[in-house]
Amino acid sequence: MEILLDYNLVNITSNAEIVTKVGKVFELLTEHLQRIDETDDSIFYSVARLVKHIDPPACNALTDYFRVNLQPHSDILDLMSSYASHLPGELSFNNVVGLGMNEAELSNNPQLTDFVIQDLGQNHILPFDDNSFDACVINVSVQYLVKPIDVFQEIARVLRPDCPCIVSFSNRCFPTKAVAIWHQLSDVGHTQLVSHYFAASGGYEPCKIDNISPNGSSTDPLFVVCSNTKKT
Ligand SMILES: C[S@@+](CC[C@H](N)C(=O)[O-])C[C@H]1O[C@@H](n2cnc3c(N)ncnc32)[C@H](O)[C@@H]1O
Repeated sequence: MEILLDYNLVNITSNAEIVTKVGKVFELLTEHLQRIDETDDSIFYSVARLVKHIDPPACNALTDYFRVNLQPHSDILDLMSSYASHLPGELSFNNVVGLGMNEAELSNNPQLTDFVIQDLGQNHILPFDDNSFDACVINVSVQYLVKPIDVFQEIARVLRPDCPCIVSFSNRCFPTKAVAIWHQLSDVGHTQLVSHYFAASGGYEPCKIDNISPNGSSTDPLFVVCSNTKKT
């Protein structure tokens, strides 16, 4: 088993270097993707949580990021979706399709034009044609993926070429449902792990990492790892 290093980004000068180092360091083992609660996810997510999972400043930071990095009139996939998609209200999108676990959460999300209920742990094949979307967002949920590389490969398939997959996360989680490796890593380690998911799935350009935490230590931190699908 390889040792998992948690690199300090201060010592890394480029995103390419992060991907290279992470590609060498991480070797995902079965135990890394196990959870404290291995019961069927449909049980845990049967309770509708009609809430936002990060505080208002962090929600605003995520919406600001989308304002700059999503295109109006585009087709958006909100993977691991719930009651809020955090998209800028003034941007008009073509389709916003949510995929999540709870019907009440998804049907109460005013930004979705359509939704699908699917457990990605049971079935990682996305129910969409190739080249269906202009962007995919995974908001504060990537830590629950038990087949992350398979899911990231599927995202690359359903995205059009040169389109972004934007993965955001804070330092909160449902602890019993987050994979073991998430608990072992710091915020910087989480950015490296998600970078590894992109690199190992093969369908993406080198990723870009941003710390978009709102000012002030009393708010939730927020990090984004974003990568575009390959151009051709
Ligand atoms: C913390 S909530 C975040 C919801 C939403 N993305 C947001 O920003 O408010 C985690 C979400 O991950 C989704 N999720 C967790 N495990 C999943 C799985 N196995 N398959 C599909 N979605 C899952 C659930 O639907 C849940 O709503």
